[in-house]
Amino acid sequence: MTEMSDGFYHADACDLADFAQQVLQPLQSGMVPQASDVQGNVPIYDMDALRAALDRPEARRRLMAEWARVLKDGAGVLVLRRAYADTSVLDAATAIYDQIIAREKAAQGTAADHFAAGSNDRIWNALQKLCEVDPETFVRYFANPVIDAACAAWLGPNYQMTAQVNVVHPGGAAQQAHRDYHLGFQTAEVSAEYPAHVHDLSPLMTLQGGIAHGDTPVESGPTKLLPFSQRYRPGYAAWRRKDFRAFFEDHYVQLPLQKGDALFFNPALFHAAGANSSEGIHRMVNLLQVSSAFGRAMETIDRVKMCTLVFAPMKRLVATAQLGGAAFDAALAATAEGYSFPTNLDRDPPAGGLAPQSQKALLKEAVLGDWDGGHLRARLEDQEVRRHV
Ligand SMILES: [Fe+2]
Repeated sequence: MTEMSDGFYHADACDLADFAQQVLQPLQSGMVPQASDVQGNVPIYDMDALRAALDRPEARRRLMAEWARVLKDGAGVLVLRRAYADTSVLDAATAIYDQIIAREKAAQGTAADHFAAGSNDRIWNALQKLCEVDPETFVRYFANPVIDAACAAWLGPNYQMTAQVNVVHPGGAAQQAHRDYHLGFQTAEVSAEYPAHVHDLSPLMTLQGGIAHGDTPVESGPTKLLPFSQRYRPGYAAWRRKDFRAFFEDHYVQLPLQKGDALFFNPALFHAAGANSSEGIHRMVNLLQVSSAFGRAMETIDRVKMCTLVFAPMKRLVATAQLGGAAFDAALAATAEGYSFPTNLDRDPPAGGLAPQSQKALLKEAVLGDWDGGHLRARLEDQEVRRHV
């Protein structure tokens, strides 16, 4: 069996030799003519030299087209040196983020990091929180044509910006190798339910970025990256495998960043935050997760209302064996929100798994369980409150 003989990827059919063949290739310098340097197969763009090109439509497009090629078929990752020419706005934001972390720690304990144990700090929805604390600093922070061009290069216009601050303290643990949202946030079982072509689609829907808020030498644990690993199509089925993770640990690259540098990568790239073995560097990176405008339906639907309305007839039909199995699942799929995102990760945390319970899972639990309509309505409303800002 190949990894997708039936149109789906299977972890046990992934082949490390195929993966190695994709990954162990040198970056052809002809692919990145506008890069100023290549380190560890990662192209580096000197934005001091290229910033003016972003004001000229043709030059901007040429640069964006090169970045898109790098992200899709090339290294899968690029560094934008001095994405921020003036880093004073980063210092202002850092001070605010430090305050937010202190306030949230006092209020609720440390937010969970998905892929690492230890003492890392995380601010969910750092985008809105910065805007709420200091709208002017927020405006100055995101008034950055370099960041905008990188997002538009991968996603086109009208992208949806989100940001999560991550601070790794000295002694902070490394993450395990993984891929990112969307499919990277699903369990192996759920991920395997999506057909192979959706595994190709998933990385086109988001862009991962990071803005260095301070100098980040290698000992402070900048992100470990495996260039070209996004090219391995079954990678969402493979990244949990021990042999793939061991290969990652043998072959990753880590690049030092300076304050004001930005890093962008294809969310299908195998990567992991590094361990912070420095003496006193509290490594702060603002992780940008940017989504395609297209990741939405055309109509807004009041699915809470629909779930409440269908509950009694569904329960009656299931109890009388007129509804069950695949037909029941089809009715659930048309009624309820089946996806856990977007959500408010402060209130609806990913504890115990990667994705919080979906509305569809809640409705199914209600119909099959010993719930009454009032209890379902309360749980649906509670879920809505948790999901929204
Ligand atoms: Fe990640």
